[in-house]
Amino acid sequence: MSEKAILKVKGKEIELDVIEGTEQEVAVDISKLRGQSGVITIDPGYKNTGATKSAITFLNGELGILRYRGYTIEELAEKASFLEVAWLLIGGELPTKRQLNKLEKDIKNNQIVHERMKKIVEEFPSTAHPMGVLASMVSALTAFHPTTLNPNNDNKEDYLNMVKLLAKLPTLAAWTFRKNIGRPINYPNPKLDYTSNFLYMMNSCPNSDYKADPIVAKALNVLLILHADHEQNCSTSTVRIVGSSNASMYASVSAGIGALWGPLHGGANQAVIEMLEAIKADGGDAGKYIAKAKDKEDPFRLMGFGHRVYKNFDPRATILKKYADDVLKALGIQDPILEIAKSLEETALNDQYFIDRKLFPNVDFYSGIIYRALGIPTDMFTVMFALGRLPGWIAQWKEMRANHEPIGRPRQVYTGYTERGFVEMDGRKE
Ligand code: CMC
Repeated sequence: MSEKAILKVKGKEIELDVIEGTEQEVAVDISKLRGQSGVITIDPGYKNTGATKSAITFLNGELGILRYRGYTIEELAEKASFLEVAWLLIGGELPTKRQLNKLEKDIKNNQIVHERMKKIVEEFPSTAHPMGVLASMVSALTAFHPTTLNPNNDNKEDYLNMVKLLAKLPTLAAWTFRKNIGRPINYPNPKLDYTSNFLYMMNSCPNSDYKADPIVAKALNVLLILHADHEQNCSTSTVRIVGSSNASMYASVSAGIGALWGPLHGGANQAVIEMLEAIKADGGDAGKYIAKAKDKEDPFRLMGFGHRVYKNFDPRATILKKYADDVLKALGIQDPILEIAKSLEETALNDQYFIDRKLFPNVDFYSGIIYRALGIPTDMFTVMFALGRLPGWIAQWKEMRANHEPIGRPRQVYTGYTERGFVEMDGRKE
């Protein structure tokens, strides 16, 4: 695009390049602005700032579109396996049968985690939150795979590191869970596919003849796919910015897990159920909590409502809403929490405050409900999100490196004291 944007600031006119993406998204390129003028831009929360050009995920928040490498999330959720989607995100194309078979085989060969890592998991107190354990264990993996420490854009090495991480994260997640509930740790079962193996390690008695419930395995596959990438969200931006310092894939992913943990991001799925339980314990009046969420003096927010980029509907939530109904029906689950969820959803969707602000249930509202129906404990929900998001983090980390992006280092507008003299102790006021 040869169009230019003109910025007038401090009496000076500055010409800036305008760039356009393949989906006609327009951006003003300010990368040389400070050099040209000494001026920077400020954008808390990066609401209007594009941090990178990316070819991985496209989303249009107004139209509720989400596509991975051009394929719609609806088609992928219906037709693909999670590992197919992982390959697609990381490699750019759907895998051939041979490529997928190799990936599945390589993953099965790398699911085992070092016995000393098991000891580390066992040493965490039972109060440890699974997300903290997971982030620590991914970081600890670097000690057992030191070649990961010096990323050098070698495709073979990146492939091996990706395989190890995709293979070991479910093992670590399941170990964390088993340790928390005081049950013996299960080893991976190479006879099972990716999702069934995870369910086996979570739920089964060691060496039992386990067969995953097909409804549960399918629901988990869909959940993982829906969470697999979401362009420059908080945790993905964290992964990219940590990686931009040349930190390893594992260190970057470990940081991403920390970012995902927060209740405004991935931690919302746990917060949704905790909120529903609190409403139930308080008599089940959804209206009371809607009023709290609207009260500007009250910090309470409806967890699982609203989204930074989706302003009409969250396409992932649309898919999951249907799955939530199917799964609950198929598993014959009747849960009073779900009645509260439905009433909250209905009340909020018809309330002017929520309509005006375009606040509607997001992916975490329904994912929490499905995880609960699948028997996954509340504090493991965000771990499930992390398992799903892993291919996206790896894809974004690789893209950031392939683009030779500079180290991430935002500027600031300083608002503190200007220079002042040091005050001796005797002269300081109490
Ligand atoms: N409950 C009540 N009011 C809300 C909510 C909510 N959940 N979310 C936003 N608002 C209000 C907010 O108070 C503000 O009102 P006003 O204009 O009168 O000041 C307005 O809506 C805009 O909110 P914002 O905080 O400026 O919006 P944001 O884009 O910065 O925040 C969000 C997006 C997702 C952090 C926020 O909607 C939220 O806190 N939601 C609850 C947590 C949640 O469910 N997070 C999961 C997001 S989906 C998973 C993922 O991709 O991470």
